[in-house]
Amino acid sequence: METELKFDAIGVLDFDHWTDAKKFSYSPPLLGAEDIELKVEACGVCGSDIHAANGDWGRAYTPLAVGHEIIGKVTALGDNVDKTKFHLGDRVGVGAQINSCGDCVRCSRGRQQNCKDSTGTYLSVDKKNGFETQGGYASRIRANSGFVFRIPDGLDSNIVAPLMCGGITGFKPLLTGGVKEGSKVGVVGVGGIGHMTILFAKALGAEVTAISRSDRKKEDAEKLGADHFVATADKESLKSHAETLDLIVMTASSFSESDIDQTLSLLVAGGRAIFITAPPSNEKLTLTPFNMLLNEYHIGGSAIGSPQDIEYMLKLAAEKQIKPWVQTVDINEENVSDVWKKMVKGDVRYRYVLTGYDKYFK
Ligand SMILES: NC(=O)c1ccc[n+]([C@@H]2O[C@H](COP(=O)([O-])OP(=O)(O)OC[C@H]3O[C@@H](n4cnc5c(N)ncnc54)[C@H](OP(=O)(O)O)[C@@H]3O)[C@@H](O)[C@H]2O)c1
Ligand SMILES: [Zn+2]
Ligand SMILES: [Zn+2]
Repeated sequence: METELKFDAIGVLDFDHWTDAKKFSYSPPLLGAEDIELKVEACGVCGSDIHAANGDWGRAYTPLAVGHEIIGKVTALGDNVDKTKFHLGDRVGVGAQINSCGDCVRCSRGRQQNCKDSTGTYLSVDKKNGFETQGGYASRIRANSGFVFRIPDGLDSNIVAPLMCGGITGFKPLLTGGVKEGSKVGVVGVGGIGHMTILFAKALGAEVTAISRSDRKKEDAEKLGADHFVATADKESLKSHAETLDLIVMTASSFSESDIDQTLSLLVAGGRAIFITAPPSNEKLTLTPFNMLLNEYHIGGSAIGSPQDIEYMLKLAAEKQIKPWVQTVDINEENVSDVWKKMVKGDVRYRYVLTGYDKYFK
């Protein structure tokens, strides 16, 4: 019987001991007419997994499986899913969103990512059925077919997985900002999303400046293709790159200890800074209004991307062979715990991807 079906997962059972990842089972929601079920084969470890698992975004429920950079094979199709587009066994991806209302102004304008009734892949409640969502550190997942994407053949599952959230999140501000040949783009935070943003900005022909807290990642940034490097701890380096950037994508996981005015000094007058960070829910940004008005900076935010953006990104990634730097790790309790601890310490170059699902989830 469908209702007795269980999916296996690894996640947080107790927020006070969140780094002790544990196996559990849960009953999935019924497969809706528009839904697709997939058997997971790879899942990236996004910075958001850490925020969600450690309680930065509240402690809504346990057990909680995170993971929203998911690649897998289609194992079931709802009655109304377009069977010319999706077939059993297809390789598909799911990102940070698994549904939206489909009716509101935002959805109808292709801004499903901003829908107020959006369903997040994890730590979210599906308003349709009350299901508390569980992510991709699991044997299977069900998602609305509008948020499931065919993966181009030329992209390896372990390498494409991080694009499903981190990749689109870094790419979207470049798209919105009209980045093209010769644009001057800065990327703050050389982490999972930051390194993918550098790769995409280079693929679009931009001149890229990587901006990190220290010069520890300078060599990697150069290997990723960055043309310039600024360590924010080094005031001289900041000064020598003043007013050189049209757009800065702010990808660091926190700005509570950053001097944002100082980072903005890298922008030309009229330049844009887009924050994609999703820090602890109580974190505030500190900005000096005078600094913004005198320089006419535009400050904004950006959330993942719409389904159309994700499709476009995947096509571009295949064409340009965008390859995030991944460290693959077999999924099991010990490895998930270890990877989370390493993420907290910043010990990642630059995205962990969980693999070996077949071995662990029988
Ligand atoms: N907008 C969206 O839709 C969306 C989607 C996914 C994720 N996110 C958010 O984006 C952020 C980055 O995610 P990620 O996967 O790239 O994480 P990540 O791999 O952990 O990288 C974050 C980077 O931020 C910098 N950093 C770390 N701790 C910091 C601190 N205390 N203060 C200042 N900088 C710090 C580090 O860069 P340096 O060492 O170079 O300084 C680090 O590499 C997270 O907040 C995540 O939740 C947003
Ligand atoms: Zn909507
Ligand atoms: Zn993410």
